[in-house]
Amino acid sequence: MKDPRPGGPVVRVEPLGVELTVESGETIIEAAWRLGYHWPTTCHGQGACTVCRLEVVRGAEHLVAPDAEEVGALEPLLSGRPPRGLVGVEGAAGVEGVAGMEGVARMEGAAGVEGVAGPADVVGASDLMGVGNLRLACRVRVTGDAVVRKKGVHRVQTVTLSDDGLL
Ligand code: FES
Repeated sequence: MKDPRPGGPVVRVEPLGVELTVESGETIIEAAWRLGYHWPTTCHGQGACTVCRLEVVRGAEHLVAPDAEEVGALEPLLSGRPPRGLVGVEGAAGVEGVAGMEGVARMEGAAGVEGVAGPADVVGASDLMGVGNLRLACRVRVTGDAVVRKKGVHRVQTVTLSDDGLL
């Protein structure tokens, strides 16, 4: 993993394959929004829904350690309980060895828990088995390059109005 680039650390988001340059003090979701990307959320960055959660693929050492609020939000996922923002998924179990958030960012065997804000983001209970490497995009800041995985991230469509303001 390279050192931070001149414009700031770069977070590559898979499977979209986009690279987000993250400015100082900015969270990953804030960088995505600034750069014109939709990132799944239902609480819009309040740390309450966990829909923004991402899987860290590489560069976990470049992520600022989670605070107690992030730990509290993710803990239900890791303990097998459905998170507050994950409606209709029950029986998510099978996660072992949860020993604080340092473990969250470094657990192995990550298995793709993704956002649930839209049809493309809905996951089944089986997707919650063996979760690990999870962080909240609305909380996590980076000090260097990283690669994360988050389904549902896409470029926001823009509409241009004509000169008279009509479409
Ligand atoms: S946006 Fe809801 S928890 Fe991050």
